[in-house]
Amino acid sequence: MSEPYLRFDGISVEFPGVRALDQMSFSAHAGRVHALMGENGAGKSTLLKVLSGVNRVTEGALWLDGERHVFANAREALARGIAIIYQELTLSPNLSVAENLLLGQLPVRAGFVDRRRMREEAMRILRDLGEDAIHPATKVRDLSIGQQQMIEIGRALLRDAKVIAFDEPTSSLSVQEIRQLKRIVNRLRDEGRVVLYVTHRMEEVFEMCDAVTVFRDGKHIRTHESLDSLDQDTLVSEMVGRDIEDVYGYRSRELGDELMAIDGIDGKGLNAPVSFDVRRGEVFGLFGLVGAGRSELMRLVCGVERPRAGEVRFGGEPRHFRSPTEAIRAGIAMCPEDRKSQGIFPIASVTDNLNISCRRFFKRWGVFRQPSLELANTREYIQRLSIKTPGPRTRINTLSGGNQQKVILARWLSEEIELFVMDEPTRGIDVGARRDIYNLLYDLADQGKSVVVISSDLAEVSSICDRIGVMRDGALVDIVARDEATPERLLGLALPA
Ligand SMILES: Nc1ncnc2c1ncn2[C@@H]1O[C@H](COP(=O)(O)OP(=O)(O)OP(=O)(O)O)[C@@H](O)[C@H]1O
Ligand SMILES: [Mg+2]
Repeated sequence: MSEPYLRFDGISVEFPGVRALDQMSFSAHAGRVHALMGENGAGKSTLLKVLSGVNRVTEGALWLDGERHVFANAREALARGIAIIYQELTLSPNLSVAENLLLGQLPVRAGFVDRRRMREEAMRILRDLGEDAIHPATKVRDLSIGQQQMIEIGRALLRDAKVIAFDEPTSSLSVQEIRQLKRIVNRLRDEGRVVLYVTHRMEEVFEMCDAVTVFRDGKHIRTHESLDSLDQDTLVSEMVGRDIEDVYGYRSRELGDELMAIDGIDGKGLNAPVSFDVRRGEVFGLFGLVGAGRSELMRLVCGVERPRAGEVRFGGEPRHFRSPTEAIRAGIAMCPEDRKSQGIFPIASVTDNLNISCRRFFKRWGVFRQPSLELANTREYIQRLSIKTPGPRTRINTLSGGNQQKVILARWLSEEIELFVMDEPTRGIDVGARRDIYNLLYDLADQGKSVVVISSDLAEVSSICDRIGVMRDGALVDIVARDEATPERLLGLALPA
């Protein structure tokens, strides 16, 4: 094999109380897709931010094509051909597609931005990406997440970046968008670029990547230059430092009587009335492709949207929730999918973020805050969900992506709730921590509470749920019992006929 194009050489990064990277060394070759894997908080995003000049190193350096670099800022890295597609996209929502693509290198003629050339350049790149359907004048805020990501990739291509790094690019994409992303990643590889690819999804590593580096606690554990003789279990145990036999660890239990019955609910986002019931102690899955109407359905049930027709019976009584607060008072809480934008308080502490909904919704705690109770509650969840944080009072925005997710998830787990609706609860969460979350769901169910899990992860729904409702195109097409819920069956129901 040729000399590696990119080499990380003994890189350490320290934050107050955390050694995020500890003498990290490995190399990546041009023309290959190199996966980075590791638990939440292992240091993957930190390394990408070193590469892009955002994070300062305390020791070490990078080598690019035989030259040593320590980037002092993002501009230097950009100029040297580095592009990062971050976990949170960084486009300007109120600017047009063309402006976002060409930002920083707008074509100028006689002192003015050359709009015509800007549009032509943008169209060329969009065509190149197979996104001809997007008009260059569209505002970025009107694009889907997948399309926005394509614009970020377009920016990298316009600058002819030699190293392109992706940070969990597929975590919010639809099946079709994932397919398109995979095509583009392949193409970037074939063009001889270095592609770094951070993901928690095993199947992507085996399907798309040529090499994989495993991180644990900021340290380099191992780089596999080929995946040919590597198996999934080995990779998992390298990541978590122990063997995990069955990530899902399903525990069967006796289901109780009906807790909630939904009878002919119809409204925004649905194309047909939906009926089903959830029993006490049940983990009920809602599977479907992105856009099938799963979140919309549960928003109608939980008072976020008003249904046009139908009825919700909860604990035997007909209920019409006019707001999520009313639903929460009755004992139903929905933990939204877009946890980042819907309710993280970035500069507040882990404790404040974790306890806020209890304060807001339960008068009992709302009138007098009880800091010691809140701290105890926080400590409990830090332990139960293995949240990696220097302490309960740390600012949440210094935690890794997956650990922020866990905090927001824990917020919803207060005592007073009887039915939890969790929208994609394990998105961005590593394998070891998934196991903690599944155990927590089973614990809730053992206490006679019920959980509705909305998930696009086929292996997950078919493994952790007692029954699975499958949605397609705004309608509930079937309800499948656990014993019959093979991945093939579920996918067959979810795909367009
Ligand atoms: N700006 C910061 N200030 C303080 N600590 C930070 C900062 N950025 C990252 N950290 C800490 O560094 C460690 C590594 O975080 P990093 O975001 O690199 O993890 P990750 O591997 O990307 O995890 P995930 O899979 O959850 O995204 C974590 O303990 C995190 O809390
Ligand atoms: Mg990360």
